Amino acid sequence: MAPIDSALRLDKERLFADLRYEPHEGQRAVHASRAPRRVLACGVRWGKTKAAAMEGIAAALEPKQSSVGWVTAPTYDLADRVFREIQAIVGMQLPHRLIGMREHERKILLRNLAGGVSEIRAKSADNPVSLLGEGLDWLVIDEAARLKAHVWESHLAQRLIDKRGWALLISTPRGKGWYFDAFRRGQGRDSDYQSWNAPSWQNPHLDRELIEAERARLPERVFEQEFGGQFIEGSGAVFRNVRECAIGSWKEPEAHQSYFAGLDLAKVEDFSVLVVMNRAGEVCFVDRFHRLDWALQVGRIRTALERYRNARVRVDSTGVGEPVFEALRREGVRAEPYPFTARSKAALIDHLALLLERREIVLPRPELWPDGIDELESFEYAVTETGHVKSSAPAGQHDDCVAALALAAFHARPARSGRIGSRVIG
Ligand SMILES: Nc1ncnc2c1ncn2[C@@H]1O[C@H](COP(=O)(O)OP(=O)(O)O)[C@@H](O)[C@H]1O
Ligand SMILES: [Mg+2]
Repeated sequence: MAPIDSALRLDKERLFADLRYEPHEGQRAVHASRAPRRVLACGVRWGKTKAAAMEGIAAALEPKQSSVGWVTAPTYDLADRVFREIQAIVGMQLPHRLIGMREHERKILLRNLAGGVSEIRAKSADNPVSLLGEGLDWLVIDEAARLKAHVWESHLAQRLIDKRGWALLISTPRGKGWYFDAFRRGQGRDSDYQSWNAPSWQNPHLDRELIEAERARLPERVFEQEFGGQFIEGSGAVFRNVRECAIGSWKEPEAHQSYFAGLDLAKVEDFSVLVVMNRAGEVCFVDRFHRLDWALQVGRIRTALERYRNARVRVDSTGVGEPVFEALRREGVRAEPYPFTARSKAALIDHLALLLERREIVLPRPELWPDGIDELESFEYAVTETGHVKSSAPAGQHDDCVAALALAAFHARPARSGRIGSRVIG
């Protein structure tokens, strides 16, 4: 950090008292730390976002000629959480310090304690180009464990060098990637790093009953990660045995076999994916095209399905897919709608998870279908802000192979028992 007169240093404790923010014990330790890299790996609703927002405000008020800080996250929505919190506090409690609020740019300008201008911006890390440029005085990363290593290393950490800025990396634990490494550095291995790890219930403002209800409905490893705040390898994975099932190869149509297909139609940026399976649960054929090849899609899908003995195809017919669905029907394709809702999709995913768990499905080997195997392996459980658990692709990643496969499998291999033990997806 740039050297400043210590007499002019901001008194954080006083500021927090003025803002009527009483950090809980865990938050107090984070605020007291002077480490240039702080890693806060705690359960959901521990108070990470709150603490980070307060750190951002304190940094922006720090007496300086000028300063720039970013709040970032893997997606815009996630970056918005800290930013909105800052915006609300500034709007309600520091309006006299506000110079400008540019909503569309996600930018707040504040008059700091030395009369200088401080800037706070929200940035999404899903567009690394937007992360180029200026040197930062401080940086908050929310859901840091979901951020790609190279985005942290090559884009964000670089921004801090010029001004010797600080970073606060907050997240629920997730796997053992770069974020886990950063966390471990903070446990005494690197004096620049300090890290903390605590379960959700360290936050005294949280309702214990809600937490216990979640414990009852979640698979244990998911609960231990999301609420217990523990780093557990592969804990969030929805599909098990993916590699064990990926031992097959593409299969040509056979005379006495019956085939079932699933089609996930491109949304705004995704791809359309067609998956054909046989009654034995083997994936025989996959095709994938970009949304733009719209006209091409219908013809290609029809040809493929005709080849596989005029297979029936289940299609997510909601929204953007509807015209394509209608076009397929007109072309004589045996297309059946399967409208996606949160509930209907969860049922499909559950069913596919069950088949994989029981190894009742054969996927093409990873080198034949890298996209599909990768999507299946990264599909994960996540707890939403409202405290519900859903299964989905990690933020910013595709799920079209999974959806198409799940649609095909639902009809090719009806599960022997309809219910899956304790697995619950909200
Ligand atoms: N020190 C605190 N005082 C009062 N409420 C708090 C405090 N810390 C967190 N909270 C509240 O607890 C809830 C969860 O906090 P949040 O920062 O969103 O958690 P996380 O980001 O860890 O999921 C929010 O309603 C937040 O306002
Ligand atoms: Mg949060």
